[in-house]
Amino acid sequence: MTFAPASTTANAVAATSAGTPGVPLTASGQAAFGRAVALSCRECGERSPIGPRYVCESCFGPLETAYDFGAITRADIERGPASIWRYAPLLPVPADVADRPNLNPGWTRLVRAGNLGKELGLRSLYVKDDSGNPTHSFKDRVVAIALEAARSLGFTTLSCSSTGNLAGAVGAAAARAGLDSCVFVPAGLETGKIVMAAVYGGRLVAIDGTYDEVNRFCSELIGDEAGEGWGFVNVNLRPFYSEGSKTLAFEIAEQLGWRLPAQIVIPIASGSQLTKIDKGFKELIALGLVEDRPYRIFGAQAEGCSPVSAAYKAGRDVVQPVRPDTIAKSLAIGNPADGPYVLDAVRRTGGAVEDVTDAQIVDAIRRLARTEGIFAEPAGGVTVAVLKKLAEQGKLDPDAETVVINSGDGLKTLDAVAGTGVTATIKPSLAAFRAAGL
Ligand SMILES: Cc1ncc(COP(=O)(O)O)c(C=O)c1O
Ligand SMILES: [Zn+2]
Repeated sequence: MTFAPASTTANAVAATSAGTPGVPLTASGQAAFGRAVALSCRECGERSPIGPRYVCESCFGPLETAYDFGAITRADIERGPASIWRYAPLLPVPADVADRPNLNPGWTRLVRAGNLGKELGLRSLYVKDDSGNPTHSFKDRVVAIALEAARSLGFTTLSCSSTGNLAGAVGAAAARAGLDSCVFVPAGLETGKIVMAAVYGGRLVAIDGTYDEVNRFCSELIGDEAGEGWGFVNVNLRPFYSEGSKTLAFEIAEQLGWRLPAQIVIPIASGSQLTKIDKGFKELIALGLVEDRPYRIFGAQAEGCSPVSAAYKAGRDVVQPVRPDTIAKSLAIGNPADGPYVLDAVRRTGGAVEDVTDAQIVDAIRRLARTEGIFAEPAGGVTVAVLKKLAEQGKLDPDAETVVINSGDGLKTLDAVAGTGVTATIKPSLAAFRAAGL
């Protein structure tokens, strides 16, 4: 399936190098998609040229980006900026990407979590804290790649279907790049997510329905003239967008001293982040940038939206859609596009998928804050609670290097920890302080 960008737009795809026919160039003469050479079908493997397409024309399977990397060294990467753009040679972006207006996300903290590790009996635990991104979630990574593709393919409006964080990331990236934006979310999201999505000045549309209904509506819009020239980052730009999550894998490995963690716990909504972290680890091994040693991938869901966990536990390959009901609204995707690929990655690496209750999510948000000073949104509560559950079940090696991902900021979801507040309100006197028993 292809999708035509606005026909009036100056389109980088029109400019192709004489030496390498078919390779799109940017205005400054760079290969617009870097070392990416094709889109390849995740089902049948058939390749098609890079362009505004996201579904295989032979089997309707989803497309992903394929590369011819050549040689890339650790030194090449280490010379790069303190953002995802240090990995530009591993992404479908032009070499001068860091010079173009964007939010420069990434290179977030990898925190050695000794206190949390002690509580959970894990001796080498790290939190990858992606709340430190420009709009406070990992979504800035994926949007930055989609923005580049949108520019190169001539889209004029940046759009998405979102569970909240993506809407804010798209709004901010479009504002910075000078593009229009129009983003779609299910009605009933947290106030912090709504404000974060609206403040950048683009259009924010709440749809009376679930995320899955929002997503279906966006697919209809893509086929309609009302959506002409619109790049939906997670739909018709998905082969590029999803590559952004590989940068989590690259950063974790580099921050560990160019080593893969033995165990990693990753949140699942559509499942894209998990499958692309796996792809990132595989690419690092293939390029000889890290030692080829086994790693185990663990997926985390909320019990109130656990279609992948249910399929994993039942030994099924097919993910049956559910209607979500959980406080982890950012992970509330009942029909996850990457569900089967998550099952493949988890089973191939000897990991697991687990789910946790809303009460366990809230407990984990508080535990992470109390032990490490990191305030997570419910998605981070889900991964930390699943980490705890897996540790208690004996499914994790307590001595192995373990990373848990916090993908979003608790400031956007204050209601999750409602009831948290002042210890006491007193008069400004020593007598009052002593009387309060503090
Ligand atoms: C904070 C947060 N973490 C994780 C995810 C999961 O993303 P994916 O759809 O790639 O599984 C999302 C998706 O919206 C999110 O907002
Ligand atoms: Zn195919």
